[in-house]
Amino acid sequence: MSQETILITGANRGIGLELTRRFLSAGHRVLATCRAPDSATLLQSLTDNANLTIYALEVTDSHSVRKLATNVGNQPIDALINNAGTMGGDQQSLENMDYTAWAEAFEVNTMAPFKLVTTFLSNLRLSKRPRAITLSSQMGALSRKSKGSHAYRSSKAAVNKVMQVLSMELEADGIVVCPVHPGWVRTDMGGAGADLSVEESAEGLFRLIDRMTMEQSGKFWTWEGEEHAW
Ligand SMILES: NC(=O)c1ccc[n+]([C@@H]2O[C@H](COP(=O)([O-])OP(=O)(O)OC[C@H]3O[C@@H](n4cnc5c(N)ncnc54)[C@H](OP(=O)(O)O)[C@@H]3O)[C@@H](O)[C@H]2O)c1
Repeated sequence: MSQETILITGANRGIGLELTRRFLSAGHRVLATCRAPDSATLLQSLTDNANLTIYALEVTDSHSVRKLATNVGNQPIDALINNAGTMGGDQQSLENMDYTAWAEAFEVNTMAPFKLVTTFLSNLRLSKRPRAITLSSQMGALSRKSKGSHAYRSSKAAVNKVMQVLSMELEADGIVVCPVHPGWVRTDMGGAGADLSVEESAEGLFRLIDRMTMEQSGKFWTWEGEEHAW
């Protein structure tokens, strides 16, 4: 397998950090982005690997996205992984709703992935096997019936639709576009009681993303490489 270039958002902790490690260990180049590179100590500890480049990126800030695009330049990007995500605050129930946090959830989880894909479209078009992947969640699946977490669920349901529409719009460019559920993972977001370690989730995601073809575009996948019902 030839060396590829992978852009990952939210690479300083959780699944994004482990995906960075996994793609580096496979010999790929990783453009790892995070909000605060100077304090991203775990990510910085990987910099003895010359294939890692760290960039600052606040995904909701258009200026920050444009600055990243300038810094990355016109190199090919083989896989763009929209990993950065937020739960959308502690109050998202029938009784208590934090509308500001709900709007932020849409900015981070729904609009930013669209912004990143469209900003780096020319880089993806330079790749021989371009993929635009967004870490979504089964919590956004309309096919699953469960209560609460209105902000998070709706932002992930919405990004699933955005990715489905983009997959059709970018089909002629040969760009694979998919939302992926990473499993329930022991991170700051998933909590200590979750099913999977970050290593297990990132390994599954790596295998899936590494081999993705156009036949898989426009579908919702699990970290295990199984199709997830919308
Ligand atoms: N863990 C799970 O069980 C689970 C399940 C389903 C889906 N997911 C999805 O998988 C993805 C990764 O989850 P995780 O568990 O690794 O989450 P996490 O441990 O909470 O990490 C979230 C990452 O997103 C970054 N981020 C948040 N808002 C951002 C912004 N505005 N700009 C740039 N970066 C931002 C964070 O950066 P800071 O450190 O700067 O805050 C951090 O790097 C998310 O999209 C999440 O919704 C997770």
